[in-house]
Amino acid sequence: MRATNSVFAPVENDLLNLNKNLQNMIGARHPVLYAAAEHLFTAGGKRLRPAIVLLCAKTFSPTNDISTSQRRLAEITEIIHTASLVHDDVLDECSTRRGIKTVHNVFSTKIAILAGDFLFAQSSWYLANLDNLEVVKIISKVITDFAEGEVRQGFTRFDLQFSVEEYIGKSFYKTGSLIAASCQGAVMLNAATKDIANGFYMYGRYMGLAFQVIDDILDIVGSTNDLGKPVGSDLIQGNLTAPVLFSIPEVTELSTLIQEEFSNANDIQKAIQLIRHGSGIQQAKDLAAEYLQAAMNCLEVIDNSNYTKLLKKLTLHILERIN
Ligand code: IPE
Ligand code: IPE
Ligand code: MG
Ligand code: MG
Repeated sequence: MRATNSVFAPVENDLLNLNKNLQNMIGARHPVLYAAAEHLFTAGGKRLRPAIVLLCAKTFSPTNDISTSQRRLAEITEIIHTASLVHDDVLDECSTRRGIKTVHNVFSTKIAILAGDFLFAQSSWYLANLDNLEVVKIISKVITDFAEGEVRQGFTRFDLQFSVEEYIGKSFYKTGSLIAASCQGAVMLNAATKDIANGFYMYGRYMGLAFQVIDDILDIVGSTNDLGKPVGSDLIQGNLTAPVLFSIPEVTELSTLIQEEFSNANDIQKAIQLIRHGSGIQQAKDLAAEYLQAAMNCLEVIDNSNYTKLLKKLTLHILERIN
């Protein structure tokens, strides 16, 4: 996250190390699979998930040390996330990601599916090697959740009956589940009690939901240059997100455009203008802010340490992406 440098500062060196390790962890034998899998790692990305995992690990540790297995979990989390993006870009027909062409755009859809599967499989291997069955169980469930989330989204395109509750449910599967499980896993690797582990799970869950709502706002108000991926693509795909769902009841013309699946050349632009002029974006921001507050409340399960403050700072930073 370009602007997040200061909130990432406490784990900056750990993240540099993580970047090096990620390259080494992708050990595909075939050069095409290797190139496809490595493609997005080279481009970077914000590394938000590993930063959260590393900060959770520091926050919970009495000595503020991060163990080898917690570092490995941060890497696994980023590999799983990247795999889900490779597949998501096929489904969303997205042409650029992290400022470069998507895997299916450079190679082919078949290669992208294989590369995504390969990354999921690699992450499973490293996960199993953590030798912690409870952590294996909670993290492996995340991969099923992606499929659940993507299928729910795929079947509700342009559906004006799609509710905010259903949107939140889907967002949990797509985005909340990974962050929740990896926060929980990070403290479980340090023998956290059940209550603490649950607290961190809920923290990650709320963070993930807020993050998705903000990503969805940025799809309408952001710029392709800043995001490294095309804006407006949710609308083009008929993926009705928080700012859109909040705008539908107040802007009749928007429903018509959605119903007609944006069939005229300027319909997407028109829809974006309608959403921007209503209160839908503000309502979505308020929803994200509520989730971030809920996330911070979950951190009450642990004593207030310096690192709790840093984790809270990172939590609030998520909202600054749209301010
Ligand atoms: C994009 O995640 C997918 C969502 C869950 C919204 P990020 O915005 O964290 O993507 P990268 O890792 O920085 O590319
Ligand atoms: C998140 O959803 C993607 C996954 C968690 C797989 P999006 O579809 O909104 O992500 P972007 O906008 O393409 O990065
Ligand atoms: Mg997408
Ligand atoms: Mg998005």
